[in-house]
Amino acid sequence: MRIVTPLGDFALDDSSRGLPLVLLHGFPLDRSMWRPITPLIRDGWRVIAPDLLGLGESAVRPAASIAEITDSVFAVLDAIGVHDRVVLGGLSMGGIVCFEAWRRYSSRIAALLLIDTRPNAETPEGRASRYESAAHIEREGPRIVADSMRGRLFAPSTSSAVQEEWFARIGVQPRVGAAACARALGDRADSWTTLETINVPTLVVVGDQDVITPPALANEMHAKIRGSQLAVIKDAGHMPPVEQPGSTASAINDFLAGLGE
Ligand code: MLT
Repeated sequence: MRIVTPLGDFALDDSSRGLPLVLLHGFPLDRSMWRPITPLIRDGWRVIAPDLLGLGESAVRPAASIAEITDSVFAVLDAIGVHDRVVLGGLSMGGIVCFEAWRRYSSRIAALLLIDTRPNAETPEGRASRYESAAHIEREGPRIVADSMRGRLFAPSTSSAVQEEWFARIGVQPRVGAAACARALGDRADSWTTLETINVPTLVVVGDQDVITPPALANEMHAKIRGSQLAVIKDAGHMPPVEQPGSTASAINDFLAGLGE
C-alpha cells in the first residue's frame, strides 16, 4: 500500500492486525526483503515494513540523512494511526536507523531487534569511500553495489538462485535515492554510547557467516546492551531473513513471546 505523509509518499507492507512490529530493511534494498519471514511471524503481531526514504517505491530525495530517514519512519506510523509503542527492528542500515530512533523516539519503542548491524560511525576513509560509491551509483546505478558485495553478502551455502534474486533487487533500486542513502551512511553518527542507554528488551541477531557485520561485533553489542539476548543464525551471512527465513523467524518469535512475560 501507499501512504501520504508530510515528508512524502511512502510504500509499505502492513499485515493490519495485532501488536506493531516494524521492520526496516538494509541498503540498498526495499521492504520485500522481509517477505520471506512475514508469514512466519507468530499470531498477534502486525508486521509493518516500509520502504525507507529513497528506496523501493518510497519518496526519493537527492540528499537525505539517517535522521531524516528515521523521521519518515515515524511519519509513516503516524499516517497509519500507529501511535502506541512498537517493536522496532532493522537489518544493517535499518539497524542504524533503529539507533537514531532510540535517541529521538524512545518513548515510542517497546523493544528492539538489531539484525546484522553496526553501531560505529565511518572513519574519514570510510566516509570518503561511501561518497565515492554514491557518485558511482548515480552514474552507473546500484548494480555496482551488488557487484561489490558479491562473495560477501551471503553465506557460501546460500543458493545461487537466492543470491541472484537479491542482487537483482539491489540493481533496480532508484539511483538518486540509493546514492543519497550511501552518503547518509557515510555521515552516520557513532552509536556505541547509545547502546548503553537502551533499557527496553533487545534481541541482537547475526548470521554465523556474516563478514560485513560479523558475529564478534554482534557479541560486543550484546555485551553493551543491558539484558539483551543474542541469536546466531546458522548458515547465514548478512541477510538471515532471506537466507534462513525459518530459523530467523523462530528467533524473532521466541523473543516476541517473551515480551510482557
Ligand atoms: C546494509 O545491509 O544495510 C548494508 O550492508 C549497510 C552497509 O553498507 O553498511
